[in-house]
Amino acid sequence: MRNVTLDGVGPVSALGFGCASLGSRVSAATGRAAIERALAAGVTWFDVAPSYGDGGAEKILGEALRGANVAVVTKVGLVAPRRNIAKRAIGSIARPLVAAIPALRPLVKRLRPDGAQRVALDGETVRISLFQSLERLGRDSVAVLALHEPSLDDVRNPDVIAALTDLRDQGLAARIGVAGSPDVIAAARAAGLPVDVAQVANSPFARNLTALKGAPAFTVTHSVFGVAGALDALKRVARQKPEAIKALDTDDLPALLLDYAFAVNPEGVVITSNYAAGHLAANAAVASRAPDVSLVAKVDALIGAP
Ligand SMILES: NC(=O)c1ccc[n+]([C@@H]2O[C@H](COP(=O)([O-])OP(=O)(O)OC[C@H]3O[C@@H](n4cnc5c(N)ncnc54)[C@H](OP(=O)(O)O)[C@@H]3O)[C@@H](O)[C@H]2O)c1
Repeated sequence: MRNVTLDGVGPVSALGFGCASLGSRVSAATGRAAIERALAAGVTWFDVAPSYGDGGAEKILGEALRGANVAVVTKVGLVAPRRNIAKRAIGSIARPLVAAIPALRPLVKRLRPDGAQRVALDGETVRISLFQSLERLGRDSVAVLALHEPSLDDVRNPDVIAALTDLRDQGLAARIGVAGSPDVIAAARAAGLPVDVAQVANSPFARNLTALKGAPAFTVTHSVFGVAGALDALKRVARQKPEAIKALDTDDLPALLLDYAFAVNPEGVVITSNYAAGHLAANAAVASRAPDVSLVAKVDALIGAP
């Protein structure tokens, strides 16, 4: 596994393990097994949030990591909706169905009654949220505390900025980040929020990394494959331009997207969802080779980028 370095944290794996589905689409037992495989493959970056896994991901991750010396990123700003017993039951029925018939996933996703809810942020909410995350994770500190899809008002709120700076000064979060759009990240910086880590969706079809402006930060990207996202879009391109794909000397489209993700972010982390054993093995293999920066222009040319 290739490592990169985040100042104030140290070497971390270039491949991050995403926990958005941990405890929702993916059961706790399946999730724990996947986390064990990831640790064995050398993954040391775990991305979680209070809202992930319908509110269950932090606890499952904490138990699975059992204090392992890894970088945990958690967030503040979104919480899981309250789910009653009936809604939980729908979740447990849907899980094996989706595992057996993956094509049902977008439908089940739509049937999920309610998504994550935004929390109105102030300094106190930020502090309490981190304390609760640490409790669920069973850790004394996290590598990064990031604002989770914050609004412009959130990132300009001096009370929020002061709380984040205090938490970093106290060592409860080694680094502060913003996971959101390039515009909001730019506004956060302009307001004096310490953006040590900028986290954005990025793929050849959504070039948010190039839209990041201002002082350099450690960059983390996600949405490499996406549900009905970049992988499906690249498959369409491959059907339309089979010769052009052949010229890239690969028919492994997921690996091409992940190679691209590392090529545009060679010094940062790329988070993927790795619950299937085959996906982790494939993604870890890509994360073990040196990024090929020349791939960026080739893929951009293939999909007709500006
Ligand atoms: N605002 C934010 O900060 C934000 C937003 C979105 C996502 N994220 C983070 O990023 C993580 C990943 O989310 P994502 O939306 O970017 O998902 P993703 O990595 O694009 O994965 C989407 C789907 O692709 C599958 N997959 C993984 N590797 C594959 C491969 N080599 N070939 C074919 N399919 C593959 C995954 O399957 P399996 O999982 O079943 O193996 C998953 O079903 C989240 O868990 C979260 O931690 C953060």
